Amino acid sequence: MKRLVVLTGAGMSAESGLKTFREMGGLWEEYDVYEVASPTAWERDRELVLRFYNERRKLLLDSAPNRGHLILAELEDSFDVRIITQNVDDLHERAGSSRVLHLHGELRKSRSTVDPHLIYPIEGWELKEGDLCEKGSQLRPHVVWFGEPVPAIGEAAEMVQTADLFLVIGTSMNVYPAAGLISYVPGHAPIFIIDPNVVPVPDSSRITIIRKKAGEGLEEFMNITLNDA
Ligand code: APR
Repeated sequence: MKRLVVLTGAGMSAESGLKTFREMGGLWEEYDVYEVASPTAWERDRELVLRFYNERRKLLLDSAPNRGHLILAELEDSFDVRIITQNVDDLHERAGSSRVLHLHGELRKSRSTVDPHLIYPIEGWELKEGDLCEKGSQLRPHVVWFGEPVPAIGEAAEMVQTADLFLVIGTSMNVYPAAGLISYVPGHAPIFIIDPNVVPVPDSSRITIIRKKAGEGLEEFMNITLNDA
């Protein structure tokens, strides 16, 4: 089966009711990113950071995969699908996708503040002050904050280099190193971009823009690619 590598962003989960970051009414309009999603924020006000992620986790537990997530899972019947997501939600996995690489962490997990390899599932939605790792350190959300390295980027770039088709869904291509992954797509592989808005991508004849939302856009992608296959 052909290898389909997919890069997803917050727009992938918009139809599940989860806010994106940079659009009108997005999370970064409501919160100052450096007050809730940076190491300095954690030093300055842990309670605020924990509250921010607890609220997002509560919303996530109340949401469900949308049509787009389900189509990507279904596409595993026709392609060797590998998903690289910037999203910290678990909606790809809940939809049934079997190979998902999280670049920016996972909201339903916590990790030690003294040993980043100590990662734990969070029961329910709340991570509290005083929740400690086995080494006695305060647990933090297992997400990549601004200014922190992205440990999985090497694995992701290697994955993109194996693509027969590359598909980008619902990301503003503003945040690096994730937005740079498109430059690792091999020359023979067609590229598809699904987004209802204009996103900055290299001008290339092998890029097909589907200016639609994830669900509808993936319907079109499926029609195009499965008829070609
Ligand atoms: N379907 C598809 N795309 C959509 C939809 C939808 N229903 N609704 C919005 N979009 C698109 C927007 O047009 C925009 O291009 O999703 C994109 C969302 O962009 P951002 O809010 O910038 O989110 P993202 O690109 O995922 O952000 C990258 O930045 O804030 C950090 O760590 C965070 O992982 C995140 C990273």
